[in-house]
Amino acid sequence: MVRKWEAKTSKWKAAIEKGLDVELSGNENILYLGASSGTTVEQLALRTSGVIYAVEKSYQMAIPLVRLAEKQEKILPLFCDARNTDYIQSKIGKVDILFCDIPSRDQVEILTRASELIDGDCKIFLSLKTQSISQASPLMVKRNVEKRIGEHFRIIDSKSIEPFHKKHFFFVLKKK
Ligand SMILES: C[S@@+](CC[C@H](N)C(=O)[O-])C[C@H]1O[C@@H](n2cnc3c(N)ncnc32)[C@H](O)[C@@H]1O
Repeated sequence: MVRKWEAKTSKWKAAIEKGLDVELSGNENILYLGASSGTTVEQLALRTSGVIYAVEKSYQMAIPLVRLAEKQEKILPLFCDARNTDYIQSKIGKVDILFCDIPSRDQVEILTRASELIDGDCKIFLSLKTQSISQASPLMVKRNVEKRIGEHFRIIDSKSIEPFHKKHFFFVLKKK
């Protein structure tokens, strides 16, 4: 049985609840970095006829993700570090949406590297966990991160996704 799509367990769903324009139109191929056990990936697979390339580096999380992919053929699990773009490039086709939900210090650099795999039409979504970068106030971290983001991307929109996810912002971007 498929679970309900909940904003408190999915940053993408939280972004929809907060009014960002991140709904699927129904045929997108998605490169999803930080798929975990597939909570959000499973929901996206119900909403697109395209392929979801689901990248996850934790063995523990990849096991349920692979089980999910066995039931849902639109999900292609890629068990690797998202920084390994050579490997990812060898496995993917055209991507319409690139999403990064990796709460690490270098999350912007991971996204930037992955953006080399996509073309200018691709939508780019980033879930930013400020606490993974610094303990400073979330707004201050966001402002600093925006400078780094702005070197490679145009910021189309961004919103805090509190109260669903504390100290998180969701960005809608395009390649410059
Ligand atoms: C916050 S969870 C993702 C939750 C998931 N997006 C969802 O909505 O169901 C972050 C995931 O990123 C994975 N991760 C962390 N660093 C990574 C990396 N360098 N490459 C790939 N996955 C990574 C973690 O193992 C973890 O499962």
